Amino acid sequence: MTLQTHYSGLIEHYRERLPVSADTQIISLGEGNTPLLKLHNIPALLDRKIDIYAKYEGLNPTGSFKDRGMTMAVTKAVEDGAKAIVCASTGNTSAAAAAYAARAAIKAFVVIPDGKIAQGKLAQAMLEGAIILQVSGNFDAGMQLVKEVAEATPVTIVNSINPYRLQGQKTAAFEIIETLGRAPDFHCLPVGNAGNITAHWIGYSEYACSKNDNVTAACAYCNGHCPYAHEPIVSTRPKMVGYQAQGAAPFLRGVMVDNPETVATAIRIGHPQSWDSAWQVNEESGGWFDECSDEEILAAQKLLAEKEGLFCEPASAISLAGAMRDVKTGKIPEGSCIVCTLTGHGLKDPDTAIRQSAGELITIEAKLDQVQSAIMKNLAG
Ligand code: F0G
Repeated sequence: MTLQTHYSGLIEHYRERLPVSADTQIISLGEGNTPLLKLHNIPALLDRKIDIYAKYEGLNPTGSFKDRGMTMAVTKAVEDGAKAIVCASTGNTSAAAAAYAARAAIKAFVVIPDGKIAQGKLAQAMLEGAIILQVSGNFDAGMQLVKEVAEATPVTIVNSINPYRLQGQKTAAFEIIETLGRAPDFHCLPVGNAGNITAHWIGYSEYACSKNDNVTAACAYCNGHCPYAHEPIVSTRPKMVGYQAQGAAPFLRGVMVDNPETVATAIRIGHPQSWDSAWQVNEESGGWFDECSDEEILAAQKLLAEKEGLFCEPASAISLAGAMRDVKTGKIPEGSCIVCTLTGHGLKDPDTAIRQSAGELITIEAKLDQVQSAIMKNLAG
């Protein structure tokens, strides 16, 4: 038997494709290497010949894809001598920032919209020792404040405007290609700030890039993104499809939205920070943006849980909600290979999950006959 090297986080794993050196002290919680699960029951419901995979990012250490970016951002902040980090957040970034700051023994300041972040995320940031600033405004207002405060205060921003965040997040695309043995035809993602869709495109482009030691010009695929010399690993890239919640859909409106509203609080964002790069991804990949209603989002969340045993938060489910609609209309053709990213774990937002399952609890006395009769009544169907 040959002994396998233990997986110890994405920076160690992809170190030659990330901006770290041999001396860099890596701040990691073992993030990345998440499952890519083929859906069995939902494609059957669609009555189309289609392969749908879910990239289950909720299985990262703090329960969302943010850990991929945060390991890089905090590693580099510490390398540069930072003693504190700061972010605005709809919840997941704050939980990740708090955890990685704790690991690095530095301070995390997180700015969150008062009353608009899910309980699980708040619990994480609180127990992980972040200094939490609840503001009477939305994420966009918080983001503006964070940018201004970082100019005048010795704190490093770890929102996705920090370029190291996207470098870490690009590794999800690497993992997908390695698991499938190819790039998917379509990659469907929820879009808030649009950092993640941009990061995936960087990752896909790097693996399709044919830049090597003898070629100095940027190749057609990486468009200059990729500073690393290597052979191409795949010859295609997916069409990138970004879904937004109807009440928070600036990419659909073509302009910023001032009062975003949606049940999917993670993507309750009206002023995306990666506006230009997301449009570039859209154009280069030949993909599109679309929007889903809160009802469609919640229905997809429920379907994933009921039919596949996959529990994700509402924002994540939009990737499947949109993909199902695009499969039904034929916009995504039969025979396609689709990846939907489930960006955050369902446990992040237990309140919304319980609210939409209300009425499904059967309350009985602790008596055998009552348990038996409840089972018999529900056995059929
Ligand atoms: N899904 C989840 C679960 C998120 O938490 C976010 C963003 C997104 C999707 C959208 O990703 O912004 O890169 O387009 N959450 C940020 C936060 C804004 O503060 O946790 P994006």
